[in-house]
Amino acid sequence: MAESSPLSRALDEVRSEIDSFLGGLLAVPPDPRARLYEAMRYAAIGGGKRLRPLLVVASSALFHTARDRALRVGAAVECIHVYSLIHDDLPAMDDDDLRRGKPTLHKAYGEATAILAGDALHALAFEILADDSTHEDPFVRAQLIGELARAAGPSGMAGGQMMDLAAAEQALDLAAVTRLQQLKTGALIGFCLEAGAIMGKSPPERRIGLRGYARDVGLAFQIADDLLDEVGQEVKTGKKVGKDRDKGKATFVTLLGRDRARQQAELLVGQAIDHLKSYGAEADLLRSIARFAVERDH
Ligand code: IPE
Ligand code: IPE
Ligand code: MG
Ligand code: MG
Ligand code: MG
Repeated sequence: MAESSPLSRALDEVRSEIDSFLGGLLAVPPDPRARLYEAMRYAAIGGGKRLRPLLVVASSALFHTARDRALRVGAAVECIHVYSLIHDDLPAMDDDDLRRGKPTLHKAYGEATAILAGDALHALAFEILADDSTHEDPFVRAQLIGELARAAGPSGMAGGQMMDLAAAEQALDLAAVTRLQQLKTGALIGFCLEAGAIMGKSPPERRIGLRGYARDVGLAFQIADDLLDEVGQEVKTGKKVGKDRDKGKATFVTLLGRDRARQQAELLVGQAIDHLKSYGAEADLLRSIARFAVERDH
């Protein structure tokens, strides 16, 4: 991605908007909860690509939703994402000590605080969505809350994480790994696209292409994550590499090999872009995000 491409500018903008929004929400109180707030700030502010908030902004733009609302929803998804990373890094799960270029939260603050910071970010996501300023229509807010809950829970991210733990213990085939990744990573990404349609009260037939796009980009994004674990550089990814192989974890890369995994990811990106046929230039940001999902080095 060129330094000053429209996509890199869009990412930079969303990054600073999300940082200032979360910074405002997470003012550190002068009481014993200070450590919890500091830990939440450490994990949630000033790091990460902010790809999920950008997806919410890009899908909302198709339906002419105000940017400040899209950013609130983007911040809610990011809270769920950061909580999932905090818990994913714990010794009981992936046992990682580097995240977003700095020590993982449990390394910096201890396990108990890291667990609580994850819990609190999980709750904060729904508090943000439930607030009137997210959308004036309570039905829309209820839909956003319901869909994010589904994407984060046992039919989504948490369910996928459970399957991922099993991926180190038993031999999974391609169909099982695809399903695992659709839940682990795809569900939250799917929510980002659906959120734009929910806020824009778009009719179901306008959502079909976006859902196809989300499915393909979600999968391509996780294949790229698995490739980066195999061939990426720690200085770029900001996290340890080579972990999946060390744990004997079945991924697209271990099942297909690097070249075929990359081909598969590229094919999915092409398919994702095809799903946007009915949209014009207003979907260009979504098209560049799809390419970035696999071309990225971090
Ligand atoms: C990493 O997500 C974990 C996955 C679900 C693949 P990202 O690659 O989006 O991580 P950040 O947010 O940029 O740190
Ligand atoms: C984690 O997947 C995805 C989550 C839902 C947190 P990984 O375990 O592959 O993510 P990284 O590689 O640690 O970022
Ligand atoms: Mg993991
Ligand atoms: Mg991990
Ligand atoms: Mg990974």
